[in-house]
Amino acid sequence: MSERNGHTFIPLEFEHLSTEEQVSRAHEFELRMRTRRTVRQFSPRQVPRELIETALRIASRAPSGANQQPWRFVVILDPEIKRKIRIAAEAEERDNYERRFPHEWLDALAPLGTDWHKDFLDIAPCLIAVFRLDYGIVPDREGNLQKIKHYYVQESVGIACGFLIAALHWMGLATLTHTPSPMGFLSQVLKRPATRNRTFSFPSDFPRTTLRSPPSPRNLSAGPPFFWNDTTHAALLSPTTPLTPLPLSKTMRRATRHL
Ligand SMILES: Cc1cc2nc3c(=O)[nH]c(=O)nc-3n(C[C@H](O)[C@H](O)[C@H](O)COP(=O)(O)O)c2cc1C
Repeated sequence: MSERNGHTFIPLEFEHLSTEEQVSRAHEFELRMRTRRTVRQFSPRQVPRELIETALRIASRAPSGANQQPWRFVVILDPEIKRKIRIAAEAEERDNYERRFPHEWLDALAPLGTDWHKDFLDIAPCLIAVFRLDYGIVPDREGNLQKIKHYYVQESVGIACGFLIAALHWMGLATLTHTPSPMGFLSQVLKRPATRNRTFSFPSDFPRTTLRSPPSPRNLSAGPPFFWNDTTHAALLSPTTPLTPLPLSKTMRRATRHL
C-alpha cells in the first residue's frame, strides 16, 4: 500500500500469462465472440435473475472517464411496463419509418429488414434500459449536495454496454441493441423522478438513452434465431477470407489451426 497526493494506492492484481496461454485465451474468446449476432426474435422463457445481475456487475466493471461510472441500468421484467415501452417505441418508430427518416437512413436500414413493429419488446422476458448520466450529485466539504460534470459520458456508457453485450453473449443469452429515437418516453414510462433528480440523471428533456434489449435464452425447440444477411457475414468471417492477412507466427499458426 502507498500514499500519493493524499490518496491510497493498493497493489495491482495482475495475472502474468505465457504467450501460449495468451494466444489460446485470445482464440477462445474470439471463437465465442464471432458467434455473437444481433437477434430480433426472442423466446419468452424467463432468464434467471442471477444471470442479469452478474451481467450488470460485469458491465459496471468497465472503465469510465475519471471513474465516474456515468450510467444507470434499469432492468424491466414487468409485462405491463414492457407493453407500455413497446407502444411508445412503436409510435416513435412508425413516425421514423413513415416520415422522419431521410432516404439515406432508410437505405442503410434496408438490409436489416427492420420496420416500426417492435413486438420483441413485449415478448422478450427482460429489457435493460441504459441511461447516461451527464451530471452527478456529490456532497461538497460542508456536506451540501452539488452538481458535478461527468467526463467522456458517451464513450464510457458505450464501453459499459460493450461489456454488457459480451457478458450476456458469454452466458449464452441473445441480445438486441435497440435505439428507438427519440427515447424521451423511457423516462416517462419508467417514472424516473421529476425535476431535481431528473436534472441529475437526465439533464435534458430529451435524454439520450439506449435501450439494450432483450436478453433471452435461445429457443432451441423453435429453431435458430433469425439472423439477417447470414451469408455475407459467414463469408466475411470465413477463415478462407482473412480480414488481416498478416504473416502468422509459429505459435499463432498452432493456436489457430482449429479455427
Ligand atoms: C448503437 C447501436 C444502435 C442500434 N440500434 C438498433 C435498432 O434500433 N434496431 C435494431 O434492430 N438494431 C439496432 N442495432 C443493431 C445493429 O443493426 C447490428 O448490431 C448490426 O446490424 C450488426 O449486426 P450484428 O450485431 O448481428 O453483428 C444497433 C446497434 C448499435 C451498436
